[in-house]
Amino acid sequence: MDERSELRIREVGFSDLGINPPSAEREAMLEHVTSLVLGHLDEVNDLPIAPTATAAQMRAHIAGYDFAGPLPWAEVLDDAAAMLTKWNLHTKHRRHFGLFNPRPAYSAVLGDMLSAAYNPQLAAWSHAPGAVEMEAHLIRYLGSLVGYPADAVAGSFTSGGAEANLTAVLLALSRHFPAVAERGMRALSGQPVFYASAESHLAWLKIAHSTGLGRDAVRLVPVDQDLRMEVAQLDRLVELDKAGGCLPFLVAGTAGSTSAGVVDSLPEIAQTARAHGLDFHVDAAWGGAALVSPRLRGALAGVEQADSVTIDAHKWLSTPLGAGVFVCRDLDGLRRTFRVSAAYMPTAVNETVDPYSSSNQWSRRFVGLRLFTALAVSGGPGFAAMVEHQSAMGERLRRLLAEAGWQLLNTTALPVVCFTGRGLDTGDDAAARLDRVAARVVERGNCWISATRLNGRAALRACITSFETTETDLAALVTELDEVLDGG
Ligand SMILES: Cc1ncc(COP(=O)(O)O)c(C=O)c1O
Repeated sequence: MDERSELRIREVGFSDLGINPPSAEREAMLEHVTSLVLGHLDEVNDLPIAPTATAAQMRAHIAGYDFAGPLPWAEVLDDAAAMLTKWNLHTKHRRHFGLFNPRPAYSAVLGDMLSAAYNPQLAAWSHAPGAVEMEAHLIRYLGSLVGYPADAVAGSFTSGGAEANLTAVLLALSRHFPAVAERGMRALSGQPVFYASAESHLAWLKIAHSTGLGRDAVRLVPVDQDLRMEVAQLDRLVELDKAGGCLPFLVAGTAGSTSAGVVDSLPEIAQTARAHGLDFHVDAAWGGAALVSPRLRGALAGVEQADSVTIDAHKWLSTPLGAGVFVCRDLDGLRRTFRVSAAYMPTAVNETVDPYSSSNQWSRRFVGLRLFTALAVSGGPGFAAMVEHQSAMGERLRRLLAEAGWQLLNTTALPVVCFTGRGLDTGDDAAARLDRVAARVVERGNCWISATRLNGRAALRACITSFETTETDLAALVTELDEVLDGG
């Protein structure tokens, strides 16, 4: 590019390149997106839930974008929306009985849009003081729901539950073995090990791998017939590990297991952790939302004894994806774990916390705003009504399935229902048969469920993930299953 054209671009502020359109065009573009978004939200419950196109079909279309020159914005935005409509599993759908992905609250979607447009940089407090303080306020609010004293709550927003659980491991490691921070695992006389139930979310394995502990460091404690960690086994395994020269440092209870929504016996785990001098983390990535409800929070009794807790905003708190929360009681520990100083970073401001020095991320989007706007608009009682409705739908689904002859396999106050029976669960190929039923339900496009294994036993799984799900949708699922079993 010659000097003159460079100057010309600067003079027009890149508006002719579409990078910074003039004000009237910006408004037209926003109105266009608004109508696409509103249209999608109005129609989503009438769309086929799961996509049917093949990867080859999608790639052929997407390859048409060679980015060699500009395209009209309306065409691009319309096509992006069309691709997202056709080639997407609509987890927002009221008959999506799926994997903890919610229909986001509308005020949360708009909060996230504000984050993108204002684009605060949440590495240093001084760059985004308002955003950092709003997130800190949310973390204190979630800490108060957990039952922590108001002046003892610390934490960070994360990309999701896996990163929040990673934070728990890093914090516990540095609390137990300060030398690891500088010298790594070779500073230790033995292998550090940590514990979670065999029904826990297996991001633990990736976490152990990426922290350098190694996947073998994860002890998956067997579960009882209710799919809860067998605490006597936990105790036994810790004893065995200690006797064998390993270094137990953390136990993670699960409050709302991924397959069955089951809550481990948190008070008992807390007691065992204390007896052995281990940190106690609770993975309430999905189930933590129940804490907003006075009626449901009893299901997580004992969570207040945890050193740290994972709660995903993007699961049952119904925000758009990309927002997890790590809550703990040890700000100094967090700061020791993630400490770093770099000449190019702004000087820390007294009595404030720079997110980059107390969490695993550096530059970060303002992911907390979506939860802030949603909680502020609906209030805690609004969220309580939402999770209570979904739990009531879970109970109702349990009853309908039992009446239809299905055998229920899990016990939980939270809205995940696991079931089998109707002749599908006998013989060696029970798992394959249940997989086929789930696949056929998905293929028909009216409902979405999945198959899973509960302590090795094959099951169908349905979770109430949308606040829009009603009894009509539950009845539709039961009918759908009947039709699939009849060969439909
Ligand atoms: C109990 C539990 N913990 C952690 C995770 C991981 O969360 P994310 O996918 O937000 O990283 C999940 C995901 O479903 C989960 O169910």
